[in-house]
Amino acid sequence: MPEINVGKFADFEDPGRKVVDCNGTEVGVFRMGSDVFAYHNICPHLDGPACQGKILPLATEDVAPDQTSAGRVYSKSQVNVICPWHGFEFDIRTGRHPTDPEVRLRPVPVRIEGGNIVITLPR
Ligand code: FES
Repeated sequence: MPEINVGKFADFEDPGRKVVDCNGTEVGVFRMGSDVFAYHNICPHLDGPACQGKILPLATEDVAPDQTSAGRVYSKSQVNVICPWHGFEFDIRTGRHPTDPEVRLRPVPVRIEGGNIVITLPR
């Protein structure tokens, strides 16, 4: 299986990403702290470029005791990438949609080796 060096780990923002074209296969490579993740840049909804969307913390609505909105709350632990076509969100650490775990980005094996990020593409 082809292995591709997509750049120095230190050159990635945190959180950050690069979308690389590997002989016609686009892969989104993400850095979250000391971890890296990679997915095919194809949204499971309608094949949009999901990995190229905004990177934002998961936002939820807090509910007050009287059942009214207590405002928006941003997760400190979950960061999502948001598909630019129709707004499906995916947890960068798992590739899964926040409410439907069956809807997910297709993972690509990725590792840090010698300070570089290396992905392994299927044949
Ligand atoms: S193609 Fe990604 S949300 Fe529709």
